[in-house]
Amino acid sequence: MIKLLEESVINKIAAGEVIERPASVIKELVENAIDAKANSITVEVDEGGKSRIKVIDDGTGMGKSDAELCIQRHATSKIEFADDLFNIHTLGFRGEGLASIVAVAQVVLKTKTKEQETGIKITASGGKILKKEDVAIQNGTSVEVSDLFFNVPARKKHLKTMQTELRQITELITRYALAYPEKMFRLMHHGNDLLFSPSAEPLDNLLTMFGKDAAYAMIPVEYTQKDITVKGFVGNPTLTRADKTMQHIFVNRRPIKNDVIVKAVTDAYHTLLHLERQPVFVLNVDIKPAIIDVNVHPQKTTIRIEKENELYDTLFNAVRNSLDSSKLIPVVESRETFIQAPLIAKNIEEEKQTVFEQVEQTPQDILEKAIQKMTEEKAVEVKPVAVPKPETKASEKISKLKLIGCVHDVFYIAQNELGLVIIDQHAAHERVMYEKLMQQFGDGKIAVQELLEPEQIDFSPTEMLLLKENIETLSELGFVFDEFGGNTMLLRTVPFIFGKNMPKEVVHDVLAQLGEK
Ligand SMILES: Nc1ncnc2c1ncn2[C@@H]1O[C@H](COP(=O)(O)OP(=O)(O)OP(=O)(O)O)[C@@H](O)[C@H]1O
Ligand SMILES: [Mg+2]
Repeated sequence: MIKLLEESVINKIAAGEVIERPASVIKELVENAIDAKANSITVEVDEGGKSRIKVIDDGTGMGKSDAELCIQRHATSKIEFADDLFNIHTLGFRGEGLASIVAVAQVVLKTKTKEQETGIKITASGGKILKKEDVAIQNGTSVEVSDLFFNVPARKKHLKTMQTELRQITELITRYALAYPEKMFRLMHHGNDLLFSPSAEPLDNLLTMFGKDAAYAMIPVEYTQKDITVKGFVGNPTLTRADKTMQHIFVNRRPIKNDVIVKAVTDAYHTLLHLERQPVFVLNVDIKPAIIDVNVHPQKTTIRIEKENELYDTLFNAVRNSLDSSKLIPVVESRETFIQAPLIAKNIEEEKQTVFEQVEQTPQDILEKAIQKMTEEKAVEVKPVAVPKPETKASEKISKLKLIGCVHDVFYIAQNELGLVIIDQHAAHERVMYEKLMQQFGDGKIAVQELLEPEQIDFSPTEMLLLKENIETLSELGFVFDEFGGNTMLLRTVPFIFGKNMPKEVVHDVLAQLGEK
């Protein structure tokens, strides 16, 4: 039953504006649906949610008097006393969500419990109930929100483009779909499915949300240390991204942001990751509600925890255990790579002058060797586009190098008049590629190569949106795609400089960059 909170409790709740954009409306409505134990949650939006949002659930619904009360400020069925703030088992607790939405938009709420014959329809706007009617509807609740910020022009002006708002909504639904795999989530834009996540086992859910490339590279995590249990999946070290968009953290199944957890997980990978690559993970942390505080920020995306050190340790151990037990680190290294460096060094020792002259090379020369042989070139005219001027070329910064050797096929050891130079082949290779691509892009001529077998690539729903939005830019860059169905695309051409063995990761990285833009 919904009650109005006492003044003394109200004063203890972190207050502040929670509705900033369409995604914040959807967050409030989806969390209410989850708290109402819905099994299926459908979100319909038009114009990136700017003109219309509708969230439909099959949860408990509300009785007629609760339906009238729920849109009032500080009206909640989830807590009653100040102490309850330290024992929160629901996503909501402030009694503010619906009131904040009704204050800034036109709202039609329909709801029915299974005990009732008919449901009730409430029309409200600008904080006031305009109409109450009985309606014949299914059990559950639907809330339709239109004309967001009709009475707050300043906030309306700050809304981003339809695509940007839609991307935020897709990211939001992705998070809840990952946190609640047993529930069905569906997101539709202008009547078209953007995301559909049926009720599934956690691993099958990952397949839907991340695609098979990523899902097959995930390692399960299940670990308990004292009062904290960590459960979910971490990517094996070959599955990385340029940014943190595929890192999902839930505490007691509430999506949150938390630097301690991210650091613990990233530290657990230690040297298994290349510098500046981000791991992929979906982890839920179960903690006694009594030792965490969710009431820190009105948006409830940050939590305060009493024992941060324990949290760090537990996460670190959980991830390290899973990575170790999946035997990622080969125990026996190839002897050849170990002995390669000393051998070269010995030759240098014996024939100092000649050997040094023979191996004098620029970093590019060294790295070119690492770049696979390329097949037929096919030049394609593209429009010249303004591109950032590359910084000073790496080769100009580092003068002639004398190559000494290569360690583990990863690090080149060289020297010049400044001293010893160690080059991370992977990082330097990327840099050389980048400079070449930018040079070609600037000249308006990107050499592309057609793949003999088109490459099938799976994308997340958010990446799929970005891809469709930027399909022309991508083709100017040399990446030409064909539709395959669902969140899978066929990559037909790649920029020539990458060679035909270009890792799929490059495509995900380019999309991440386009997303930041
Ligand atoms: N979809 C729904 N199904 C059933 N009951 C709902 C639904 N949405 C809201 N309610 C009821 O309305 C009340 C008010 O919802 P509202 O979102 O405003 O506050 P809250 O969820 O209690 O707290 P918060 O402000 O933190 O979200 C809820 O406590 C719940 O009882
Ligand atoms: Mg709520």
